[in-house]
Amino acid sequence: MAPRLVDENYLKEIEKARRDLRALISSKNCAPIMLRLAWHDAGSYDAKTKTGGPDGSIRFDQELNHKANSGLRIAVELCEQVKARHPVISYADLYQLAGVVAVEVTGGPAIDFVPGRKDSMVSPEEGRLPDANQGARHLKDIFYRMGLSDKDIVALSGGHTLGKAHPERSGFEGAWTKEPLKFDNSYFKELLNESDSGLLKLPTDKALLEDPKFRYYVELYAKDEDAFFRDYAVSHKKLSELGFISPSRFALKVAVGAIVASAVAILSYYYEVHRKFILK
Ligand code: HEM
Repeated sequence: MAPRLVDENYLKEIEKARRDLRALISSKNCAPIMLRLAWHDAGSYDAKTKTGGPDGSIRFDQELNHKANSGLRIAVELCEQVKARHPVISYADLYQLAGVVAVEVTGGPAIDFVPGRKDSMVSPEEGRLPDANQGARHLKDIFYRMGLSDKDIVALSGGHTLGKAHPERSGFEGAWTKEPLKFDNSYFKELLNESDSGLLKLPTDKALLEDPKFRYYVELYAKDEDAFFRDYAVSHKKLSELGFISPSRFALKVAVGAIVASAVAILSYYYEVHRKFILK
């Protein structure tokens, strides 16, 4: 799908929205739910059919009512305040920008943000997001479908350094870390901590310890926060751009396509001339 037009005015509005989001997220302490909103809009991507993904479709009741999205109406409504001040910005860009700002204001790594996502009018079918009651095979099935890797799965799971589970939303309760408004590598440290800390460990969190490839990254990120921040920023950018061709990459693709098409036209012309000449 071609990206939306990103002109100078659009970029200016993005920067203003970024500032508004910083203020909103700090004053309401809503970084965790904003990050969950960005991830749930993007995480429906299916690389085979090129459907779902960060396209703003989570704003529709149909998708908000999916079981996995319970509670996210709060985040969608908070984003409406920013949308009202910058109506030109697509919902798709707004939700992903909110996710990037949520990580940044809580002390996490800077994540490169490229605007230009188009809004979709269609919600994907229910069941594309992970089920917290399952294991490593399920995590792989879900994230490979998006086109993401084992390393992405572990790095992104570190997003649970923020926030908590609510019994009335997911049936689970409690936070993963002692400081759920601070983005750091404590999720991995707590995951490896075998004594009963009273902190939350979902079955899918525990699955990261059972698969040897997953465990390698859990141990790395627990002891090296710089490595976690580096990999997290890369994986988060990937998640936020699933199925999205940025305007500059799109222009390059069109230009390369046009060059290839003219080269083919020129070559076939010369071939025809040459053939006629030889046949004479
Ligand atoms: C790996 C598969 C994942 C599963 C099974 C999972 C599951 C869950 C569940 C059950 C909750 C509790 C919701 C509630 O009761 O409010 C939750 C919250 C959360 N998730 Fe995940 N999640 C996964 C991956 C991710 C990823 C990739 C991110 C971000 C990069 C993320 C960010 C969050 C955040 C920030 C919260 C806290 C929300 C709040 O405090 O309101 N999760 N997740």
